[in-house]
Amino acid sequence: MEKFVVKGGNKLNGTIDISGSKNSAVALIPASILIDGECTIENVPNIKDVVVLQNILHQIGVEMEFTSPGAVRIDSRNINTHIADSETVQEMRASYYLMGALLGRFGKATIPFPGGCNFGSRPIDQHLKGFEAMGAKYEIIEDAMIELTTDGGLVGASIFLDVVSVGATINIMLAAVTAKGTTTIENAAKEPHIVDLANFLNAMGANITGTGTDVIKIKGVKKLTGGHTYSTIPDQIEAGTYMIAAAVTEGDITVAKVIPKHMESLSRKLMEMGMEVIEDEDSIRVIGKPLVKTTNIKTLPYPGFPTDLHPQMTVLMGKAKGTSRIREEIWEERFQYADQLRKMGANIMTEAKMAFIQGPWKLLGAPVKATDLRAGITMVLAGLMAGGTTTISNIEYIDRGYEDLIGKLTGVGANIKRISTNGKS
Ligand code: EPZ
Repeated sequence: MEKFVVKGGNKLNGTIDISGSKNSAVALIPASILIDGECTIENVPNIKDVVVLQNILHQIGVEMEFTSPGAVRIDSRNINTHIADSETVQEMRASYYLMGALLGRFGKATIPFPGGCNFGSRPIDQHLKGFEAMGAKYEIIEDAMIELTTDGGLVGASIFLDVVSVGATINIMLAAVTAKGTTTIENAAKEPHIVDLANFLNAMGANITGTGTDVIKIKGVKKLTGGHTYSTIPDQIEAGTYMIAAAVTEGDITVAKVIPKHMESLSRKLMEMGMEVIEDEDSIRVIGKPLVKTTNIKTLPYPGFPTDLHPQMTVLMGKAKGTSRIREEIWEERFQYADQLRKMGANIMTEAKMAFIQGPWKLLGAPVKATDLRAGITMVLAGLMAGGTTTISNIEYIDRGYEDLIGKLTGVGANIKRISTNGKS
């Protein structure tokens, strides 16, 4: 097993190039199944979730390989089944996009119930509601597999989501692209990676309008054509994580190759807390300050404050004198990181959907573990701010979503290394 070892106290200074969006890539890659041909996707992050998807695609006869750093070529011409039943499918949540993609390609799909980060139940009722509205039937069969079938293919429908769901919005879009007629998704999610997916599919011949608003219209087309190259948007959560790293270490970091508009809720919040934030065309510079003001955050669907930056923000709130609050509206059990922070001396109390952070914290390095992807990176941030040495285990969670974390952080002066259990780095 591997661990991260972080020696705290360094101010981080310099520039970090942000990689392509994980939550875009894990949607665009399955979407390629809809194309009876090949395509190239650039700016794909080299992270564990992408490698897991590559294994899944290989198992169903789809070719996928990195042709150069960050670029994958995918060829679905020889796809040979609508059944994705391997253990690897259960390894990651985003494997559920295979439902929409295989349904769109074959009119049927069989996959296991999806896995993913363990913070509360992660239902897919809205995904299934959308598929049923389009004429699909589903049955839970042995080994917790979902079997989706249609009589003669999917038909466009009007769907109103009961919950603003990124996954359901994406999955219904995937199924609707080649359905007969038009599908409308109301109360749709507006995340940048949904717009990214629509741009990718439209480049292949789809007819999707309205993404980025809460009403998306998908006019079914006969088929998607290959031979195109598409580049994913930058990862807003990776960028936000490093912006917060600048603030917690009182450093000066520029995140480059970003889309500042995607970072707005965090940029504003950092300014409110007393940080200096300078936006340029495709970069944002964050200068941390010793005096941090308390604040309150409520996580919301985009463009609200992203739930995936909630754990990271508690470390910055810990620098402020007084009480800060976070209300987590998206995931009911996203607070497992709090226990790990307490081991380092953090004063954080959680109650129902609320976290109360009583600062200023004086964090001391300790052995802690990653309980999910964003909880894991939060332990890295806490280690950077703490006195002494912090060792973090279960770092495979972190490897799911952060490309070259050690290279990027040491490049701006962090003292962090990856060791294997026998202590070698
Ligand atoms: C995506 O998860 C992201 N994952 C998550 O990021 C992110 O936290 C989440 O969106 C919210 O932005 C990927 O994109 C791979 P949802 P997803 O469907 O699609 C409820 C990370 O760290 N809901 O938008 O699974 C659900 O319980 C990960 O990168 C239903 O009730 O999230 C939640 O309360 C963690 N029924 C809310 O909606 C459904 O059918 C939002 O979930 C679906 C969702």
